[in-house]
Amino acid sequence: MEKLIINGGTPLRGKVQISGMKNAALPILVASLLTDDVCVIENLPSISDVSLTLSILEKMGCRVRMLTRDRVEIDSRPAVCGSSPVELVSKMRGSTYLLGAELGRWSKTKVGYPGGCDFGVRSIDQHIKAFEALGAEVTVDKGCVTAAAPRGLHGTSVYFDLVTVGGTVNAMLASVMAKGTTVIENAAHEPHIVDTANFLNTCGARITGAGTDTIKVRGVEKLHGCTYAIIPDMIEAGTYMCAAAATSGALVISNVIPKHLESISAKLEEMGVLIEEYDDSVYVTRSGPLERVNLKTLPYPGFPTDMQPQMGALMCLAEGTSYLNETVIENRFKYTNELQKMGASVRVVGHTAIFDGGAPLSGAKVRAVDLRAGAAMVIAALAVRGITEISEIDHIERGYEDLVGKLRAVGADIRLVVYNDTAMLDEA
Ligand code: EPZ
Repeated sequence: MEKLIINGGTPLRGKVQISGMKNAALPILVASLLTDDVCVIENLPSISDVSLTLSILEKMGCRVRMLTRDRVEIDSRPAVCGSSPVELVSKMRGSTYLLGAELGRWSKTKVGYPGGCDFGVRSIDQHIKAFEALGAEVTVDKGCVTAAAPRGLHGTSVYFDLVTVGGTVNAMLASVMAKGTTVIENAAHEPHIVDTANFLNTCGARITGAGTDTIKVRGVEKLHGCTYAIIPDMIEAGTYMCAAAATSGALVISNVIPKHLESISAKLEEMGVLIEEYDDSVYVTRSGPLERVNLKTLPYPGFPTDMQPQMGALMCLAEGTSYLNETVIENRFKYTNELQKMGASVRVVGHTAIFDGGAPLSGAKVRAVDLRAGAAMVIAALAVRGITEISEIDHIERGYEDLVGKLRAVGADIRLVVYNDTAMLDEA
């Protein structure tokens, strides 16, 4: 097993290069199944969720070839419908996109029920609503989702009961080659929805309105391959912005789209963080005390739920009482128990975490209970003097490329150690 050992208290100073966006890479890699051709995807983050997705595609028969560290060639011509391995599919939520891609290409699908961070139920009822509106019959049985449209998929109008990123992506994937036009109402606006639509349009799809409430998809006969570069990861960028703020550091965070960071920058500035925006970078520094703040997570362009735990860690350091209201994910506060091990004063009342910040935190042995929770523990550990050990860091490796290397390059005292139940075996 591996864990991170962090000796905190050092202000982070220097430059961090942001990688491609995990939550754009996953749908776009899976969407390559629709082309029945060869695609080259660039600016791919080297993270375990991407490796897992490429393994699933390979097991389905795709020819996958890494051209460079961040460029991959995928030939989906040999792919076999319904052949994704359940044991891999169950490891991440992104596997849900296999449903939409298989339906879109073959008008049928069979995929094991998706897994991912443990936030509670994480229903896919809206995905199913879209598939049924397109003419598919869907069953969920024995941990498997099966759907088929014997007469093919037809254009439709689907209104989502709630804003859903995955549901919006899957509705696009399933409808790009349906007969007729599909209108998706109450669609999610996230940048990775737009990126996925742009990828599909580069392959010959006819999607308009991505990034707004209403997406229109005109069905086409076929999609062809293309070369496409993933957008930068706004959540990775936001995480390093929080790390700069937490350590009273000064970071240049490059390869970003500042527009995607607007809600994060605005909230950090409310806390007294100084942010300067440039074309493709932001400069983040903090000299004075962190101010307490109130925060509510919302679908884009609201404050992203994937930055919620990281902000929670920051609220522990801000003098006064801060309120953090989570409105998107059912249960995303488990990390507060880990922060309490470091001395944080925080309690959860319903969907709101209340932080009585300012008390000195101390290093401790903590767990990464999920991906962004792990990032929150890294931020807290970097901010406090003393040693913090973070275990279960496989969660963090799902979504952060070379976290240790990027942090060390800006002055963090952080090590990755391998250990068995009793002793440290090696240091990476
Ligand atoms: C995506 O999950 C992201 N994952 C999540 O990021 C992110 O937190 C989430 O969008 C919200 O932005 C990937 O992109 C792989 P949803 P997804 O469909 O698609 C309910 C990370 O840290 N819901 O918007 O599951 C359900 O409660 C991960 O990178 C239904 O009830 O998000 C769900 O939790 C964590 N029925 C919530 O909405 C549905 O049919 C948000 O779902 C769909 C969703």
